[in-house]
Amino acid sequence: MNEEKGFSRSQIQWFPGHMALTRRMIKENLGNVDIVFELLDARIPESSKNPEIAALLGDKKRVVILNKEDLADPEKNALWKEHFLKEGLGVVLLDCKSGKGLSSILAESRRLLADKIQRDREKGMSKPIRAMVVGIPNVGKSTMINKFAGTKKAQAENRPGVTKQKQWVKVSSELELLDMPGVLWPKFEDVFIGENLAITGAIKDTILQSEEIACKLCERLMKSYPQKLAERYKLSESDLFGDAYDVFCTIGKKRGMLVSGGEINEERCAAMLLEEFRNGKIGRITLEEPR
Ligand code: G4P
Repeated sequence: MNEEKGFSRSQIQWFPGHMALTRRMIKENLGNVDIVFELLDARIPESSKNPEIAALLGDKKRVVILNKEDLADPEKNALWKEHFLKEGLGVVLLDCKSGKGLSSILAESRRLLADKIQRDREKGMSKPIRAMVVGIPNVGKSTMINKFAGTKKAQAENRPGVTKQKQWVKVSSELELLDMPGVLWPKFEDVFIGENLAITGAIKDTILQSEEIACKLCERLMKSYPQKLAERYKLSESDLFGDAYDVFCTIGKKRGMLVSGGEINEERCAAMLLEEFRNGKIGRITLEEPR
């Protein structure tokens, strides 16, 4: 665990217990489904992945759903899609807010399960595709299930680590979803991954100081999306010189977030930056590329 970056073991020490439970539940239920829908955050597909998932699922067919594609960089979305297709997985880019991509999930499932569907048909059977939905907290599982079901069937739960019961959701005569508890954890030990999860809000701001996360965000944007950063906060080319903290302060000043003495109110500035990033106001941004 990286103490230097502010990770506190005491705040996340209960994760392993939850993971063991999830691991068991996934294994116990794999026999009841035809396919697994693995939701990833399109802005951080690698970081939002559970490192054990491939081993856990064995040879079960899998559709990777790159959710929140509306917030991610379209060019990088295409790269990630290609990357997962090369791994032999099904891939769908999804925007749960508008529902764009939703119908592709069934199409992609049918493609992967073509042999089984054909076998069923030959036996005169027409069974719904049964899919297990997995993903780390806040990746959008409840939102996707609700969008599919058209009603508020899955209970939205925004407190990471809170265990829900598994539940079946009948979407149509063609699709049934098994909603699994949202306790599939990503890999926290890697600093880069931890930062990505903090920046996107997958882990709570209390785990890392929000000022620190916001500076990390500035650093990433200065490197990969300087134009978007400059446009949003009306920064000149010279404003972008210096380190991430300098840029963070310049943004705070431009937004008038000052305290007495001319210093910036770091907490307010950090909250504003993170909120604007998470709501897509800085633009469509992806924080990592396929390796
Ligand atoms: P979970 O079940 O996997 O834990 O995630 P959940 O559906 O609760 O979604 C977490 C947050 O992500 C919610 O925002 C939800 O609206 C948002 N979200 C889900 N899918 C998408 C998407 O495709 N695009 C965008 N832009 N956002 C998405 P929230 O702020 O916690 O709640 P709310 O204010 O939107 O209700």
